[in-house]
Amino acid sequence: MSGLIPDSFIEELLARSDVVELIERRVPLKRVGSEFQACCPFHDEKTPSFTVSPKKQFYHCFGCGAHGSVIGFLMQYEGLEFLDAVEELARAAGLEVPTSGQQKQRPDTGLYEMLERCSKFYVEQLKKHPAAIEYLKQRGLSGEVSHDFSIGYAPSGWDALIKQLGTDDRKQEQLKQIGMLSEGKSGSYDKFRDRIMFPIHDRRGRVIAFGGRALSDDGPKYMNSPETALYHKSRELYGLYLARQRTSRLDTIIVVEGYMDVVALAQFGFKNVVATSGTATTTQQVEILFRAADTVVFCFDGDKAGRKAAWRALEATLPKLREGLQASFLFLPDGEDPDSMVRKHGTEVFAQQIERASPLSEFFFDHFTAATDLASLDDRARLVQQAQPYIETVPEGVFRDMLTAKLESLAQHRLQRKQAITSTAAVGMDGGGKPVQKRTPMRTAMAHLIQNPSLVGKLDNTDEFIGPGNDDLHGVEIFRELVDFCAQRPNITTAQLVELWHEHPALTHLQKLAVWHLHGEEESQAQEFIDAVNRIRLSWVEILLSRVTMSMAMKDTEEREKYLALQQRQQALKEQLKGQQD
Ligand code: UTP
Ligand code: MN
Repeated sequence: MSGLIPDSFIEELLARSDVVELIERRVPLKRVGSEFQACCPFHDEKTPSFTVSPKKQFYHCFGCGAHGSVIGFLMQYEGLEFLDAVEELARAAGLEVPTSGQQKQRPDTGLYEMLERCSKFYVEQLKKHPAAIEYLKQRGLSGEVSHDFSIGYAPSGWDALIKQLGTDDRKQEQLKQIGMLSEGKSGSYDKFRDRIMFPIHDRRGRVIAFGGRALSDDGPKYMNSPETALYHKSRELYGLYLARQRTSRLDTIIVVEGYMDVVALAQFGFKNVVATSGTATTTQQVEILFRAADTVVFCFDGDKAGRKAAWRALEATLPKLREGLQASFLFLPDGEDPDSMVRKHGTEVFAQQIERASPLSEFFFDHFTAATDLASLDDRARLVQQAQPYIETVPEGVFRDMLTAKLESLAQHRLQRKQAITSTAAVGMDGGGKPVQKRTPMRTAMAHLIQNPSLVGKLDNTDEFIGPGNDDLHGVEIFRELVDFCAQRPNITTAQLVELWHEHPALTHLQKLAVWHLHGEEESQAQEFIDAVNRIRLSWVEILLSRVTMSMAMKDTEEREKYLALQQRQQALKEQLKGQQD
């Protein structure tokens, strides 16, 4: 779980939400048997491989592997954070998200209102200040795009905002909390003065901060809101809310450096552009970007600072590069930024440049090989030393393998591959050519239980696996935990189970099992489950048997009785399994 919201609430929220209803409002579903189907909203396809199960309260795409509960769907489809998805579902279900004792004070909703009022105030002020309008015109901004981005103007003087909105102590305190005031010797004054104001929205469209550009050359060119309870620079992207307003799912998202770049590109038809607020791109931002689009194009200045910023963005991207996601880099000629480029060369040329951006791998290897003499053994050794640690931050998969292969070929040296944690499991291929896990009894039993938790009722004895020696039966602890969990809540759905195990170390493993294809009807599935459990029991009994030392069993009565009991159990299980096969 997220640690902030009690599990019981998540359980109730999922019980009150319906995955079919939620998805159907966004993706037309067709009923097929007991499930629903559609073309997957998360990848391009012509024949439907996206299925929604009302029983499991789970969706799964056999094509791209996307899967999850209502919460997961909102996160993936709407690009929401976990907490935001929970809040949205709670609102729809008429529930109040509880705030547990240890939870950080939730920000006062009055603060959002105050920010909205500041934004309105700046927009009104823009209309009253011809010099500010003139500045925007001279920068080439259309009235329409200024309106779309709610661009405003903060008047000069020291107290225009305070006078208008800080009319009592409480309101002044709110203005302080949202970072709109600065403190001087003789009290508070407006932080933003004589500046063009760009409101920054969160992913739900609420104003949370501002960026302000000076009209004249004195003082800093841009001022930004400080970090506040509502605004965390490292987690926000300027322009994202508007970009997603236009289409819920973007193919490509372009990341630029400046507010002006976002606005100018929007005016020229690129509505899929966001900017960081004068800070290096963070991994959190990359995560948000990939939730919004499969392809991210970073567009930076070609100068030294731009290359440095791009490298930071690459570092933040590597750990997030899962299958199907792509990042590329576009470097603009010295002295240009996206704003000036698109105005000078037009929409088409810019679109071509985006199209031709260098793939991440190219930028990655160029970075290391620029000063490397590949004919020199020392240089090649250094290349490996420098590049390999970065490659290791990439999630396992095709992309990581490709980077490793490329490094090997550049270095003319075969690299020792780090043993992956998951590769201890035997991996095969399914019909679609995707790696699947081998169907061991343990995995089979778990898959059945996760997909149909009420099967727990078929187990007569759930205490059998207690005792030492669990290392020899891989996964038995998790299986026990799962059995206990389901025994306590036999009516839980797959979706609830997976969400409640949100922070469990075995979560990814369980998620895979949650979408395993199980053959047959209900009855034969129950039998397959019981069989698998009996096989686990048999292995378990055999492990215990192997631990009883014969010499002890001969001397100690208690030990001997244990031995005989185990032997009997072994025999019984063997017969049960054999009987089933006949
Ligand atoms: P730029 O200097 O590239 O500005 O800064 P710009 O966006 O192209 O703006 P114009 O075209 O000169 O008006 C890029 C971004 O860096 C941050 C801002 O977020 C800005 O949009 N920045 C820049 C600051 O935070 N403070 C500054 O003083 C300058
Ligand atoms: Mn600029």
